[in-house]
Amino acid sequence: MSAPRVLLFDSGMGGLTVARAVRTQLPGAHLVYSADNAGFPYGAWKEADLAKRIVLVLGALIERVEPAIVVIACNTASTIALAQLRDAYKVPFVGTVPAIKPAAAQTKSGIIGVLATPGTVSREYTHALIHTYAYHCKVFLHGAKRLAEIAELKLKGRPVDMDELREEIAPVFRKRDGQKTDVVVLGCTHYPLLVEDMLKVQPWLVKYIDPAPAIARRVADVLDETPLKEAEKTVPVHNSVLLTAARGQAADSLAAYAAMGFDHPEFLDLPV
Ligand code: DGL
Repeated sequence: MSAPRVLLFDSGMGGLTVARAVRTQLPGAHLVYSADNAGFPYGAWKEADLAKRIVLVLGALIERVEPAIVVIACNTASTIALAQLRDAYKVPFVGTVPAIKPAAAQTKSGIIGVLATPGTVSREYTHALIHTYAYHCKVFLHGAKRLAEIAELKLKGRPVDMDELREEIAPVFRKRDGQKTDVVVLGCTHYPLLVEDMLKVQPWLVKYIDPAPAIARRVADVLDETPLKEAEKTVPVHNSVLLTAARGQAADSLAAYAAMGFDHPEFLDLPV
C-alpha cells in the first residue's frame, strides 16, 4: 500500500504553516499542497459566494488528487464551508478554526486577543466558539485586512513593513481592570509566518497560539481510522503544489512554495 495522500488546501501560502506541522507529524505521508490563489485573499469575500467557490475548487482538487484526507488549512474557508464540504464529498476533512478553546484554558489574565481575517471575525462559527469556550473571558477580535497579504509578501522575499504590522496587531493588545491581554490566537494560517516580526512590534509579551501542531495530530488520528485505497490514476507527485491561477499569475510565488518544500507546480486554471 502506498503512503497516504494528504491534500492541504488554503487560499494562498498560509496553509504551508500547517503543511510543515503535518510533515513533522507524518514524515511518510504523500503531501499535495493546493492554493486557490486565483481567489486570494478570502478575507473580504461575501459568505455565500465564497462557500460556493470553495466547494467548486475542492471538487476539482479531490478529483485530481484522490486524497485519503483533506486538510482545510484555512480558517476563513473552514468557518464557512466545512459543513458543506462534508455534505458534498465522501473523503474525511480536517478543518482549521480559531483556537479559542486552548486560549481560554491558557489565559491567566482572562483577556484573549484573536487575530483573524475580516471574514473569520464576522462568522457565526467564531462567535459560537467564544460563547461556548471563552464565555468567562474578555475576548478582543480583530479582523486584520492586510496581515495575510503581508505574510505572502514576506514569503516572496519582500521586507515586512513593521509600522503596518504594528498597526494591524495593536487592536488585540488591550487592558481592562489592571489586567492585559496575555494570549493571542493566530486565527489565520498565514499569521504564524509573521510571529518573529510580531515579537519585534508587540507592546508587551504575550503567548501566540498557532494551531498547526494540534491540526497535524488530528490528521494523524483521522488517518489511523481511515482505510487506505490505491489511487486509480496518476496523481500529483509528493510535494506538488496545485494552483487555481494560470502559470503567468503565479510566477512570483513558485520560488516561495519551492522553498517550503513544494517544488512541483501544477496549474488548474480555475479563474474566479
Ligand atoms: N489563510 C487563511 C485563513 O486561515 C486566509 C487568508 C486570506 O485568504 O485572507 O484564514
